[in-house]
Amino acid sequence: MTQLVDLRSDTVTKPTAAMRAAMAGAEVGDDVYSEDPTVVALEQRVAAMFGHEAALFAPSGSMANQIALQLVVPPAQELLCDANAHVVTYEFAAAAAIGGISSRTWPFAGGEIDVDLVASMIRPDGYWAVPTRAIAVEQTHNLGGGFVIGLDTLRGLRAAADAAGIALHCDGARIWHAHVATGVPFAEYGALFDTMSVCLSKGLGAPVGSLVVGSAEKIARARWIRKRMGGGMRQAGILAAAGLYALDNHVERLADDHRRAQRLALALAPYGVVDPERVHTNLVVLDLAKSAVDAPALAAAARERGVLMSVLGPRTGRLITHLDADDAAVDHATEVLTGILSA
Ligand SMILES: Cc1ncc(COP(=O)(O)O)c(C=O)c1O
Repeated sequence: MTQLVDLRSDTVTKPTAAMRAAMAGAEVGDDVYSEDPTVVALEQRVAAMFGHEAALFAPSGSMANQIALQLVVPPAQELLCDANAHVVTYEFAAAAAIGGISSRTWPFAGGEIDVDLVASMIRPDGYWAVPTRAIAVEQTHNLGGGFVIGLDTLRGLRAAADAAGIALHCDGARIWHAHVATGVPFAEYGALFDTMSVCLSKGLGAPVGSLVVGSAEKIARARWIRKRMGGGMRQAGILAAAGLYALDNHVERLADDHRRAQRLALALAPYGVVDPERVHTNLVVLDLAKSAVDAPALAAAARERGVLMSVLGPRTGRLITHLDADDAAVDHATEVLTGILSA
C-alpha cells in the first residue's frame, strides 16, 4: 500500500468538498465591526449549545484558551491546572507572558483528578501569597490519551471552585468527543464551567477556528482581549461556515473515530504498549517503556511503510483517528505497527 496514513493528529484533516462549498457560499461582513452574519450565527449557535449567553470566534485553540484565562485570572494571580495540561505544556508560557498569570500544577495522573488535592491547593486572598483565581481542566485530555473526565469529578471541582469563589475553565478542544463517548449533553458540560474553549479544527474537520464560551459580560471583554492579541478577523464568515458545517455533519460521526481507535488499541495491547480501557475516545497514547523499539524508532519504521505517528517523548508515541482515516487506513496502520512491534 503506497497511500500515506497520517495518524499524528486529528488536526491534519482537510476540508471536504461539501465543507468547501459551504465556505464558498458563506455570507460575510467585517467581523471586527461584528458585521459578519456567519460568524454571529456560529457564535450564537455554540453559546446556545453549551447553555451560555455568548461566544467569540477565535483563530486557534491556544488563543481561545488564553483569552479565557485572561478573563478569569487577573495579572499577578494564579491558575491551577494539571502538569500536562495543554495550557502549560504547549502554549509557550502565554498565560504568564501575555496575561501576567502565575500557573501552579497538580501532578498529572493520566487525566484522573484528585478533587480534594486540587481543593487543598487553592490559595485564598490576604496572606501575601499569590491568590488562586481559577482551575482549568482539559476535556478530553490530549496527553491523557483522550481521557474523559467523569461528571462526578467535574461536579466536585465546581463545588470546590464555588466554595473558594473562583472560576472553573474547560479547555474543551475535544469536548465533542467527550459528548459522543458519554452521551452527556453539551449543556450539562457547559453548566459546570465559567469559561470554555472549544475547537472546530480537532476532529470536526474545519480548517481553522475555536470559540470562547461564557457570559455576555465576559465575552464582551473577550472581544477586546482578542483584538489586543491580534485575533480580530475581518470576513471570517468563510471560516465560520466551515465550523457550522462541521457542527451539522461531523459531530456524531466521531463515534467512528472512537471505534477505530479502540480497535487499534485492542490490536496493540498484546504488545504491552496500551491499555484499551484507557482509550476513551480517538487518541491512543503508546507507552513504549518496555518495548524493544523506542518511539522515534517505531515512528521512523512506520513512516517507511506509509504510516505517520507522533513522538511525544523517547518512549511515548501517539496515534489519533480522524475524519480522513477510514477503516481501511486504520487497519493498514494496525498491520504496520503490529508488524514492527512483533519483529
Ligand atoms: C487540548 C488542546 N487544547 C488546545 C489546543 C490548541 O489548539 P491550536 O493548535 O488550535 O492552538 C490543542 C491542540 O492540539 C489541544 O489538543
